[in-house]
Amino acid sequence: MSVERTLVLVKPDGVARGLTGTILARVEAKGYKLVQLKLVDATRELLERHYEEHIGKPFYEPLVEFMLSGPTAAAVFEGQRVIEGFRSLAGTTEPTLAAPGTIRGDFGRDWGLKVQQNLVHGSDSPESAAREIGIWFG
Ligand code: RTP
Ligand code: MG
Repeated sequence: MSVERTLVLVKPDGVARGLTGTILARVEAKGYKLVQLKLVDATRELLERHYEEHIGKPFYEPLVEFMLSGPTAAAVFEGQRVIEGFRSLAGTTEPTLAAPGTIRGDFGRDWGLKVQQNLVHGSDSPESAAREIGIWFG
């Protein structure tokens, strides 16, 4: 099994709540290696590229507005099966339903914006990871 890289975002809700360090520490504690890290004020153009697959869906506009609401911490983690491994740490998309012990399950809930405010993003395949790392780290 080859070493993979994945893009991890601590979304604006996580940064605003002061959870950036806590969240990144969980990923490091699992054993993955932090290889890039920065705080980004995302632009609409960047988000259009990142969320290309969701353009036209009912939650697309609220999602972009939320992602524009404050800085995002962007990180690249490395390790064997880190793509699956991080998604397992993150928990299921909807934080109210995410299992306790996961990032979304432990720190997330429904704040009225439902599914958008779910603290983190993680790439879902090696192809997405390469594309997304290119978008956020050029
Ligand atoms: P992510 O891409 O952020 O790691 O999360 P995911 O794979 O679990 O979720 P995905 O289906 O790719 O959706 C991307 C982000 O859009 C927001 N979302 N809102 N029905 C809704 O209101 C809805 N569905 C998705 C979430 O912020 C989700 O993480
Ligand atoms: Mg996704």
